Amino acid sequence: MNKFKGNKVVLIGNGMVGSSYAFSLVNQGIADELSIIDLDTNKVKGDVADLNHCVAYSPSPIRINAGTYEDCKDADLIVICAGAAQKPGETRLDLVAKNTNIFKGIVDEVMKTGFDGIFLIATNPVDVLSYAVMKLSGLPKERVIGSGTILDSARLQYNISEIFNVAPSSVDANMLGEHGDSSLAHWSHANVAGKSVKEVLDNKDPNAAEEMFVKTRDAAYEIIEAKGSTYYGVAMGLARITKAIFSDENAVLTVSGYLEGEYGHDGVYTGIPAVINRNGIREIIEVALDEDEQKKFAHSVDVLKGFQAPIDE
Ligand code: LAC
Repeated sequence: MNKFKGNKVVLIGNGMVGSSYAFSLVNQGIADELSIIDLDTNKVKGDVADLNHCVAYSPSPIRINAGTYEDCKDADLIVICAGAAQKPGETRLDLVAKNTNIFKGIVDEVMKTGFDGIFLIATNPVDVLSYAVMKLSGLPKERVIGSGTILDSARLQYNISEIFNVAPSSVDANMLGEHGDSSLAHWSHANVAGKSVKEVLDNKDPNAAEEMFVKTRDAAYEIIEAKGSTYYGVAMGLARITKAIFSDENAVLTVSGYLEGEYGHDGVYTGIPAVINRNGIREIIEVALDEDEQKKFAHSVDVLKGFQAPIDE
């Protein structure tokens, strides 16, 4: 009888983000198999045992094991959470040199196995590292996805939900561009059941929208100051993208995707709405941006291209 071939995830990097993502997979019953790789093999051993003790209460069975790079060969999805995380006072882009070097080693080991699935990247700076993985792996752009602004958009939806007193899932609002300091709020589109969020905020207070944008953009800094790092929000975003892939959902999510002419830009990974299914990014959706948003988006692309450039050298 053929070995059961369900949806297999290999997680590389079992720090707080990686282990929170692993717990999300088990909790939501999203994958059929999970192999965890990390230099700290003791923590992997402990987490594998701890997670296997959840399976009795998981919505669906999942096989969890301590992995090696050999497990990448038949993986459907490889999620990379490995690398240095922001420390208080550091920007995400401060991590680019350190984490690009780490990624060179990881992607080389993965591709040696003949991996031919989808990469999902969470490590920061996620847009630049997604570009690095596409270049280093040689996989088609649609199968290299960064978590992008999926978390930023969730933060904006939450902040708007507080004002409108509705569920965050009932707020249609996105952050675009860099997952970082040059991100932008897509105010011209943000709505609750078609009601313009920007109009409601402007009527409350002319500064309300800008204040909400800054609160959303800088949320990670506050969380890092308070507890040292962030992990639950990005883990939930990674789980949401994983579900869209494994369920072949064609869900529209703001991830980091590679532009080749969309929005008038090319050669850059950045946060945009994209249709996600079993094959990765089915298509990038070009949403209308007003003049101010176009300027901010172009600035964000310029910032990211500047950090991507050394990868091509
Ligand atoms: C944050 C990290 C994931 O925004 O960059 O929380």
